[in-house]
Amino acid sequence: GLEIGKLLKDTGQVTLDTGFVNTASCVSSITYIDGDAGILRYRGYPIEQLAERSTFLESSYLLIHGELPTPAQLEDFTSRIQHHTLLHEEMRRFFDGFPRDAHPMAVLSSAVSALSTFYQDSLNPFDQEQVEISTIRLMAKVPTIASYAYKKAIGQPMLYPDNSLGYVENFLRMTFGVPATPYEIDPVAVKVLDMLLLLHADHEQNCSTSTVRLVGSSQANLFASVSAGVNALFGPLHGGANQAVLEMLQVIREDGGDVAKFVSRVKDKKDTATRLMGFGHRVYKNYDPRAALVKKAAQEVLGRMAKPDPLLDLAMQLEEIALSDEYFVSRKLYPNVDFYTGLIYKAMGFPTTMFTVLFALGRLPGWIAQWREMINDPETKIGRPRQVYIGYGARDYAPIAGR
Ligand code: ACO
Repeated sequence: GLEIGKLLKDTGQVTLDTGFVNTASCVSSITYIDGDAGILRYRGYPIEQLAERSTFLESSYLLIHGELPTPAQLEDFTSRIQHHTLLHEEMRRFFDGFPRDAHPMAVLSSAVSALSTFYQDSLNPFDQEQVEISTIRLMAKVPTIASYAYKKAIGQPMLYPDNSLGYVENFLRMTFGVPATPYEIDPVAVKVLDMLLLLHADHEQNCSTSTVRLVGSSQANLFASVSAGVNALFGPLHGGANQAVLEMLQVIREDGGDVAKFVSRVKDKKDTATRLMGFGHRVYKNYDPRAALVKKAAQEVLGRMAKPDPLLDLAMQLEEIALSDEYFVSRKLYPNVDFYTGLIYKAMGFPTTMFTVLFALGRLPGWIAQWREMINDPETKIGRPRQVYIGYGARDYAPIAGR
């Protein structure tokens, strides 16, 4: 059977492209990446310009609707989101039911999936108005869900959203605020988190976005498709990398802080699970333009701290050693967006398990924009890859007594 399968692979009937390294699954006008030149643009606008001058909500509008909003459009988008931040009271029971030590990504994907039980009035993928209201509901409610997941994990009461606050302020207050106690908003934290969300907002056909499109191609609703995307993001080779980077830095520190020793272990490849987390990218083979912006922000945020985080120094040493090492150079492995984000999130007070949730918050508008583009594209077909079968040929069933 195995041999036949290998032969079949060469028959030219199907293309075997494990991991879709060289197969496009759609046409898209949302995000442009030139991996060799280190270029990333949302709807034509360079990521550097957006990071410096736009905001997360404005860029979300751009990704979803195709153009930068006018002042009136932005005002309308923002206020509609602000007015849908509350979760249905019944949804709280979900949070009560999960174990306290549940990973917040597992809680997030379950709660996003549950939105399609509460909002049955907006599940028709071909009704423009319903898609619009689902879009607003997701953008508005995911930060509330994320902060509830955190509060649940630390055993604190949940805080209702405060609709007078901006998107990021509201999220930070719901996450770190305590009931009946004024919450002091740190404007630097707000600005940096807003930029980090913006930098994660879309990245064309990555694993989670392709998942959202694939699930949506069966005409599953937006909530169902996005919750699948959250699950795809959970893995350490994708969104889970930001958590994995910090855990890696902690392991190096506990092991005496010998960065060179860790790099040799990675290069040894004896333990295939040991990779330099936060390094390498399927598309960027020069540098990840987001990583440069995040590194600058990390230095800014961490530089403000009274007691500098020793992990920042370890990360910089690691980057320096890797960038001058033949193993990494020849494989074109550079820091990706998540090499430094974890250090910033840590400095802001987030536990490591929340890091991937923050990535999900950022990637949400991209998932929505890509799902909408997919559903409106007349060329969309249900996603259904082929395979190269390498199992047995036909054989006769043997009764259990004779096995
Ligand atoms: N550390 C050590 N070696 C690596 C790393 C790494 N981080 N990444 C790739 N390599 C090596 C591979 O072992 C392989 O070497 P070989 O040719 O000797 O076998 C070579 O580089 C090519 O690697 P692939 O796995 O084929 O590259 P692929 O494009 O499939 O993987 C990925 C990309 C998953 C991002 C990979 O680089 C990786 O695992 N990085 C660490 C996890 C990470 O940071 N993920 C976040 C990605 S970005 C994001 O989702 C935001």
